[in-house]
Amino acid sequence: MSSQNSTGATILPFKNSDGPVDEDRRDFVKKMGVAALAVGVGGGALQCVRYLKPNVLYEPSKVFKVGALSNFPIGSRIVIEGRGIEVVRERDGMHAISLVCTHLGCLIKPVENDPDVGYMCPCHGSTFAHKGEVQGGPAPTDLPWYEMFMDHTGAIVVDTSKVNQKRTKLVV
Ligand code: FES
Repeated sequence: MSSQNSTGATILPFKNSDGPVDEDRRDFVKKMGVAALAVGVGGGALQCVRYLKPNVLYEPSKVFKVGALSNFPIGSRIVIEGRGIEVVRERDGMHAISLVCTHLGCLIKPVENDPDVGYMCPCHGSTFAHKGEVQGGPAPTDLPWYEMFMDHTGAIVVDTSKVNQKRTKLVV
């Protein structure tokens, strides 16, 4: 409500800064502050928990079963998908050979029905004999064989962490 002073000027009522409108504003600012603090503390706690969990890339084991002996008939060459190896069974035993090219690591392809060439690399054309010896192309070394064994359940297991230096076959 307005009034007039002795000079006739209109005097507007003084608005009290502690009035209900300012109380609401103060509450709002307080709540926002508490919310910001909660977000900050929560985010920090989350980072601490995340720090406790190791930041590692889990790789599949290098020792793995490739199947029962009956899955590998004599004369078979079976590529083990996702493992970069081929399991070969011949009359005198089995071996596991790497399908990773020794040049730059491309996945090589087994060659079917060729008495001389066993494997060919699609990247730069290296060729390998049936036992993995380099025949041509830029590949510097032969394809390695890996250790393999039969476990107590009768499954054939390949260990790609161990190269079979002597290239001995698993006699089964
Ligand atoms: S990666 Fe196989 S020949 Fe180059």
